[in-house]
Amino acid sequence: MTTFTRPIIAPSILAADFAALGEQLRATDNADWIHVDVMDGHFVPNLSFGADVTAAVNRSTDKQLDVHLMIENPEKWVDSYIDAGADCVIFHVEATSDPVSLAKYIKAKGIRAGFSLRPGTPIEDYLDIVPEFDLVLVMSVEPGFGGQSFMPDQLEKVRTLRSLIDEQNLKCLIEIDGGINASTITQSAEAGCDAFVAGSAVYGAMDPAAAIDELRKLATLD
Ligand code: DX5
Ligand code: ZN
Repeated sequence: MTTFTRPIIAPSILAADFAALGEQLRATDNADWIHVDVMDGHFVPNLSFGADVTAAVNRSTDKQLDVHLMIENPEKWVDSYIDAGADCVIFHVEATSDPVSLAKYIKAKGIRAGFSLRPGTPIEDYLDIVPEFDLVLVMSVEPGFGGQSFMPDQLEKVRTLRSLIDEQNLKCLIEIDGGINASTITQSAEAGCDAFVAGSAVYGAMDPAAAIDELRKLATLD
């Protein structure tokens, strides 16, 4: 298993200018991962892009692709995202009846598997499956749209996960997604996050690379 230097900063291209994606990716060359938000208009009430755009992003950057599937029937579509170049496929536990089988399938393809959960879904119901995963993505906004306000109560999930992962010495990363900016990233790091998705705080900034550096500094704890 690859080891990562924490904190991991993962800009979400959902907030980028889609007409200039190549340029936007070059402007965030100091990122650790690129977060790719796939929305199907069913699991969430919004439509973003699919596997072809994911593949185009993969051709335009050498960064690892962190692919967040906010879609129904992830089993049906997962192969197209693996083929598109995902380094980690994250699906929602609310969208599948057998998250462990899907994680095993993804990992057998040689990439990382992650699960995510909506703010209203209790982490307690899924603690037993954490050992099967490389990553858990805690949503700190309702999935579907960028630019929403951070939900601090979701940090309780992060603390619960951090205790479990440390106690059992699991190799599972905790990532947080939604409303991460200079005002919310430090408390997320203190709660135990390893990786941080930021959309509007990066691509909405005058200088996206400087925004990444600033977020990384604020998430680095002594
Ligand atoms: C929300 C997406 C997030 C979102 C983050 O459904 O999963 O990745 O784009 O955007 P900001 O950082 O603007 O909240
Ligand atoms: Zn996301």
